Amino acid sequence: TSQIGVTPPPMGWASWNSFFSSIDHNVIKQQADALVSSGMADAGYKYVNLDDGWWQGQRDANGNIVVDEDLWPGGMKAIADYIHSKGLKAGIYTDAGKQGCGYYFPTTRPAAPNTGMEGHYQQDLETFQRWGFDYVKIDWCGGREEGLNQEATYKQIAAANEAASAETGRKLVLSFCEWGTGLPWNWATGHGDLWRTSHDVLLHQETPGLTKMYRNFDEALQPAAQHTGYYNDPDMLMVGLNGMTAARNRLHMSLWSIAGAPLLAGNNVATMTTETRDILTNPEVLAVNQDPRGLQGVKVAEDTRNLQVYGKVLSGTGKRAVMLFNRTGSAANITVRWADLGLTPASASVRNAWTRTNAGSHATSYTTSVPANDAVLLTVSGTEASGSTYEDTTTAAT
Ligand code: DGJ
Repeated sequence: TSQIGVTPPPMGWASWNSFFSSIDHNVIKQQADALVSSGMADAGYKYVNLDDGWWQGQRDANGNIVVDEDLWPGGMKAIADYIHSKGLKAGIYTDAGKQGCGYYFPTTRPAAPNTGMEGHYQQDLETFQRWGFDYVKIDWCGGREEGLNQEATYKQIAAANEAASAETGRKLVLSFCEWGTGLPWNWATGHGDLWRTSHDVLLHQETPGLTKMYRNFDEALQPAAQHTGYYNDPDMLMVGLNGMTAARNRLHMSLWSIAGAPLLAGNNVATMTTETRDILTNPEVLAVNQDPRGLQGVKVAEDTRNLQVYGKVLSGTGKRAVMLFNRTGSAANITVRWADLGLTPASASVRNAWTRTNAGSHATSYTTSVPANDAVLLTVSGTEASGSTYEDTTTAAT
């Protein structure tokens, strides 16, 4: 298998949501520096991922990608080296087809009509490995345009990544980005490390909103496909972007954390407020996301008013993360019952992950008020019910 076995879900920063195609070595170095100086790197945000816009649409006579040395002095190896010099990991971006998305949605850079990987899978992956990258996101605009088959194409890319690794001795984490159109949760395990399950959570020049946040959360819940090393990817974070309030930033983190999703910050980390930094780095919320079992939360209860309870099995006996999710426009009480979590109805202790305070011991259930369009993220420590379907059957990826 070409799957590298990233464990737990990858965390880092990606350029798209704040910079779109306007990236160069200065932007990336500034963000890498800020990841370290802000404490984000220490909290686990290790990947610095270049998204669309680094390529200029040309290949040389041997088919190798030509890099604009004005934007990337010393070429792409120099930026990967810089990222590594900060103790971080480097990610790059390509497309499964002939063209990248920039060709279809031009932004501030010229179209890049011939830099997608098609026809160059092994060559380009070898190039990325030799430049020193650790991670590659493979977009689908060209693939879609050419009518390629998602499963066949991404499996071919995964095989090419293996073949390239045999030449270079390096591995790339593979992030598939066909937006869930080919139902990757049915076939990507063992080929990719993470795969997008939805269209973009935020389009270029769009204001962050709840609709796509909820859609991408719902669509990412494919729990059968996910365990340690294989991740459904609901897309990069909007935390800290203009239009996001503190409450909404916390809600977003709660959703992505209970989903066990990759956490790729998309804000400008060089200019973020300490409030945003604290939301991105809350250790108890990150612990829910990064639990070594790598599972997703599942919806364990819902009432007719769109008040939902999600439970995520954590490592350790009787440990659960719980999200009380109020999808309505008014505040409401939501109850989580131990029986719905596979715990015996005996005293269990409850802790609020955001406030990092204990919320007491409770005999059979816990009820609290949740504001409109918001969530409360808890951890519950109780006793496994005998014959619980939550017993640990997870095998770590090798
Ligand atoms: C579409 C992807 O889904 C986005 O995450 C981003 O990579 C853009 N393409 C870049 O053009």
